[in-house]
Amino acid sequence: MNRHPQIYEGKAKILYATDDPEILLAYFKDDATAFNAQKRGTIVGKGEINCQIAAHLFRAIAAQGIATHFIDCPATNEMRVKAVEIIPIEVVVRNIAAGSLCQQTGIVLGTVLPEPLVEFYYKNDSLGDPLLTRDRLLLMELTTAERADILIAKARQINDILIHFFQLCGITLVDFKIEFGIDKHQQILLADEISPDSCRLWLTGEPDPNLRVLDKDRFRRDLGKIEDAYQQVLARVLGVQE
Ligand code: TMP
Ligand code: ASP
Repeated sequence: MNRHPQIYEGKAKILYATDDPEILLAYFKDDATAFNAQKRGTIVGKGEINCQIAAHLFRAIAAQGIATHFIDCPATNEMRVKAVEIIPIEVVVRNIAAGSLCQQTGIVLGTVLPEPLVEFYYKNDSLGDPLLTRDRLLLMELTTAERADILIAKARQINDILIHFFQLCGITLVDFKIEFGIDKHQQILLADEISPDSCRLWLTGEPDPNLRVLDKDRFRRDLGKIEDAYQQVLARVLGVQE
């Protein structure tokens, strides 16, 4: 595919224009960051792995009637996507307590939550991606009340789809972060990526709290064997027969 001007470079992806103004090309990088980019590194092969995992998950989600920005993959580390304006909110869904939920509430790691918890964070590295209340979100005009309700409903539906999908892979979906965008028809589309960078994924049935980790926590917490873990998620995702 012809390379056009780069229009945006994020921490994990570069977006290029294409011949069609409604379509962008996302190039997935091997770069890894954590803690609002204070920690930086490379996960060899991550770009290809995450692109393929995200493509599969977007297809599974679209098949259940949820609109996404995904079009197709012209190469293993490149995805054609519909152009959207990203809503600067990170929507996090949690099924099992981990990460900042444990740090900020004292809930014990691994506690199964009585129902999925949906949270909004402000997508702003320089402010440290703070947790938002609904009132702050509206005060900051990050989105409208009506759209906030739609995001919550979509996030819950996506959670149901992903829990089921990962169950078929022998993987437990602990939590994940998603982003949404608005296309030129004012439609809300699931955007960005869903991958081991943006999810906590535990090997089902593995009791060892370090061995079970198949996601970016291996990088965040220096657990080693990061590439093996990402590769294992891809192999399991590719093996799913729905
Ligand atoms: P947290 O427990 O650190 O708040 O993370 C919740 C989920 O969101 C976890 O699956 C990792 C993901 N996440 C991102 O994708 N990007 C981020 O910047 C952060 C902080 C978390
Ligand atoms: N993606 C975020 C960053 O680089 C944080 C994280 O995933 O831990 O800053």
